[in-house]
Amino acid sequence: MEMFDVYPVYPIEIVSGLGSVVTDANGTEYLDFYGGHAVISIGHGHPHFVHQMTLQLNRLAFYSNSIEIPMQKELARKLGEISGLKDYRLFLVNSGAEAIENALKLASFHTGRRKVVSFRRGFHGRTSAAVNITDNLKIQAPINKGFDNIILEFEDFDGIEQTMVQRDVCAVVIEGIQGIGGMYEASEEFILHVQNLCRQTGTVLILDEIQSGYGRTGQFFAYQKVPDLIPDLVTVAKGMGNGFPVGGVLIGPAFQASYGLLGTTFGGNHLACSAAQAVLEVMESEDLMTNARLKGNDLCNGLTSLPGVIEVRGRGLMLGVEFDYDVRDLRKNLLFSQHLFVGSSSNPNTIRLLPPLSISDEDVSRCLDSFRSELASS
Ligand SMILES: Cc1ncc(COP(=O)(O)O)c(C=O)c1O
Repeated sequence: MEMFDVYPVYPIEIVSGLGSVVTDANGTEYLDFYGGHAVISIGHGHPHFVHQMTLQLNRLAFYSNSIEIPMQKELARKLGEISGLKDYRLFLVNSGAEAIENALKLASFHTGRRKVVSFRRGFHGRTSAAVNITDNLKIQAPINKGFDNIILEFEDFDGIEQTMVQRDVCAVVIEGIQGIGGMYEASEEFILHVQNLCRQTGTVLILDEIQSGYGRTGQFFAYQKVPDLIPDLVTVAKGMGNGFPVGGVLIGPAFQASYGLLGTTFGGNHLACSAAQAVLEVMESEDLMTNARLKGNDLCNGLTSLPGVIEVRGRGLMLGVEFDYDVRDLRKNLLFSQHLFVGSSSNPNTIRLLPPLSISDEDVSRCLDSFRSELASS
């Protein structure tokens, strides 16, 4: 059997990683400012993560959700404390798309409605409801179509008002900062307008923090920059397990739980809880949110002065660097000549930087030096 060939890959085999550095099969080291697609939060091979996961693996990797799993309760308690969402409840899944799928189901059960509002350039995953609210027709199969969904522009105050006035919208879904779309975010005024409309019309407000959450912007969730914003549901994944697949829905107090309403075989398994718990412990003990904020500021200052850069968007260690030309070649050259991993976005002129939250001053300097020397040589 061969692999189903859906990924265009670079001819590089990464075999190990430590902190912000990954090493390929030939022993070449690369600085990882992509974090395996915003996944590596506390750094590759963090000793506490490895220790806790190894201990758990030696005890028990998995048993189903039909028995008591105290680790889940402890994880929910810790996540509530560190995120500030103490009165929310947690439903654990294995990926971002599943978190979105379950959040939408919950919103639909809760309201009895089926129409969803999402936004231009948004990405929410590839399962059926998630891909339907994603702004990319190319990844929707015929079987995914038929959902009642409206995609609006950010800042379309009238458009969203007219859409919601019928009181038939089940949920509005918005990314804290749009990741794949190129690090765009709605204004504070717009998001508060959306929240007001949700409250007036009994609509569920879902914040997709799958990429922008878990401390990446310097706050636990990107939306928390707006103090009066209180979402009904928040979705998480990516950085939550530092590479171990785990995701979740944080569920506000208004939602009623009942047996069988949601369910999953693997979600919340012992190893996943151990990974997620270790991530939160390291984020706290190493104050990684402060580090993300400080290193993000330095990085942003350095990037802004690079030749050809017209804008640096985003916050903390979730940055989009827009050039005045297509950056596909630049990205390739950074990887092969400078040994620096960076990410692409659906905006062909924008490079995404999503390094581990634990990067050092030296990492920031090395990243900026790599950009400078690549830009000077091209
Ligand atoms: C904002 C956002 N939501 C949802 C997803 C889907 O997550 P997953 O690939 O884990 O299903 C992604 C993945 O990139 C994402 O960036």
